[in-house]
Amino acid sequence: MLEGKHILLGLSGGIAAYKIPELIRLLVKAGAEVRVTTTANALQFVTEVTLRTLSGHTVYSDVFASVNAHATEHISLPEWADMMVVAPATANVLCKMAAGIADDALTTTFAAMRKPVIIAPAMNDKMFASPATRRAMNELAQWTNITLLDCAEGPLACGTNGKGRMQEPEYILEEIYSAFTPKTLSGKKVVITAGPTIEKLDPVRYISNFSTGKMGRALAQECRRRGAEVTLIMGSMSAREMCEQAVTAFADADMAILSAAVADYRPEEQATTKIKKQPDTTEMTLHLVENPDIAATLGEMKKPGQQLVGFALETDHELEHAQSKLVKKNLDMIVLNSLRDEGAGFGCDTNKVTLLFRDGTQKNYPLLTKEAVAGIILDNIKLS
Ligand code: C5P
Repeated sequence: MLEGKHILLGLSGGIAAYKIPELIRLLVKAGAEVRVTTTANALQFVTEVTLRTLSGHTVYSDVFASVNAHATEHISLPEWADMMVVAPATANVLCKMAAGIADDALTTTFAAMRKPVIIAPAMNDKMFASPATRRAMNELAQWTNITLLDCAEGPLACGTNGKGRMQEPEYILEEIYSAFTPKTLSGKKVVITAGPTIEKLDPVRYISNFSTGKMGRALAQECRRRGAEVTLIMGSMSAREMCEQAVTAFADADMAILSAAVADYRPEEQATTKIKKQPDTTEMTLHLVENPDIAATLGEMKKPGQQLVGFALETDHELEHAQSKLVKKNLDMIVLNSLRDEGAGFGCDTNKVTLLFRDGTQKNYPLLTKEAVAGIILDNIKLS
């Protein structure tokens, strides 16, 4: 995802700095090249050796240190970087950055950074609420190259509970992905159904399937990265509940992608108490009735300009079945995956899909991560 991207991490001296080595690992795993600049105080919380080892580069923390190849790292690092991430950003560093103060390696480097910057503040709740911090954050939020993350609420290092926690490394990573993704779905509303449905037999048991919702989650994430407003309707819930939510959300949406594995039938009766074993028989019959078909329901209510994408998970006569669903449910595109393909289908992180369109064309893809498949699906939908 971040192959070839240059990320410059700026650490200041807050306890949340202990989480940054994990962020470096995630970035490197995603293919990014990472360099680190810190304030002097940051190195009280995490060692230079840790940062150097994980990033594979010398850490820039002392403007006048002789280890620096030349004395202008604060200029060459921003030139090298595609993006800077200041995390954790303490109240002190936020105020300095907003005021243009550049009196150490981190703030001097930030002052020269004209490319995108993500800032993840972290501090005690009272410092967060201080007028000086508020003023600095309001100022920085207005800079067009800055994405200022909010603090999370929860337990703080000082023993209290409040607002001031740094966002977790995974959250910051997602913001980095998002910042690198062109906003092709900006202003668009997308509805996604995902995961399994469950149909209750009694208060203890239900009928369901092996869907985990991974494909739908990957789609929701990619839509969000592209700037869409996403409504993710995620099982487990009954098909009727999912249908109700999908109909409501689709009314003013630009597109719906239906990746949920919806039960076609449900038990006619839902017992209010646990069904007991019957003494004189070795058999039990369940009477099932048909569920609403969410895709077909949305297909009927579809207005001009709305796009509807369905999934078909098949085990035989794959193309034939998928093509007929595409037409019958009034879809614009159907994503076919076969359980016969290894690495495709329930639970795995990969999928192998064929896209079928209304004009009869089809596109085949190799085995890819569900993240990559999500990107391909969205690349193949044209929204007006
Ligand atoms: O007919 P089948 O269940 O194979 O169709 C698959 C497609 O239809 C998927 O997009 C699935 O989410 C959707 N579907 C639905 N409501 C149902 C059954 C399937 O939306 N009751």
